[in-house]
Amino acid sequence: MPYLSPALNVMISAARKAGRRLIRDFGELENLQVSRKGPADFVTAADERTEKILVEALSIARPGYGFLLEEGGQVEGSDKTHRFIIDPIDGTTNFMHGVPHFAISIGLEREGVVVSALVFNPVIDEMFVAERGHGAFLNDKRLRVAARSNLADIIVASGAPFMGKDGREEFLKEADSILSATSGIRRFGSAALDLAWVAAGRFDAFWERKLQPWDIAAGLLLVREAGGMVSDLTGREQMLKSGDILAANDTLHRTLLSMIREAGK
Ligand code: IPD
Ligand code: CA
Ligand code: CA
Repeated sequence: MPYLSPALNVMISAARKAGRRLIRDFGELENLQVSRKGPADFVTAADERTEKILVEALSIARPGYGFLLEEGGQVEGSDKTHRFIIDPIDGTTNFMHGVPHFAISIGLEREGVVVSALVFNPVIDEMFVAERGHGAFLNDKRLRVAARSNLADIIVASGAPFMGKDGREEFLKEADSILSATSGIRRFGSAALDLAWVAAGRFDAFWERKLQPWDIAAGLLLVREAGGMVSDLTGREQMLKSGDILAANDTLHRTLLSMIREAGK
């Protein structure tokens, strides 16, 4: 059974509550797909509503804690040592297209360190949780990163910059190097779930640049608590500052870090 701190229990019940509403919204989308205006406004409303449900539930249980919210930005609390970092829907583009691969992501920081993590895909009811020092779990099952180290056997998740986003050239070089040596790349559209799936050993590794703290705060603790290694792309621990991240088991992490560095030369 997972060790659930009181704070993690609070996060789970907030995510379940928000998840029930999100599932209803996801069902509603089917009716909107056909309209010419498209579902964009509806999805923005779903993002905001989900975040509001989460903030309300968490604030009741933990008054005074601060927030870093994708939609609402930074909210100072009276307790300066604790902060929830929230992405209400990670994988919004999937959500908008009716693709059932998106998640609620909540990380709890204590004095700048993520100590509790939750990534919840409400469609398939997969609740990934971790508590610093107590392991990572999917529902009740303890997680462990994949042990594979032979490059030819691995699959690597990532996110590709599209339209006006910076860094496409850099990404394509890195992807080329990784594609030439591995069993391939997956771009599923939710960084939070990519990390949760690395923790679960489904993906062997994940790298992406220019992410936001709410995309990765929870996922990075899941991977670490599943025995994996997480760093930025210089090998340091500035993931939440730089937005660059690489996660894998120790051996693969070393190999992929040097491949990514080489690709950039
Ligand atoms: C996005 C997803 C995606 C990643 C993007 C993020 P959003 O978050 O995590 O996988 O590649 O960079 O912005 O917009 O769906 O919350
Ligand atoms: Ca996101
Ligand atoms: Ca989002």
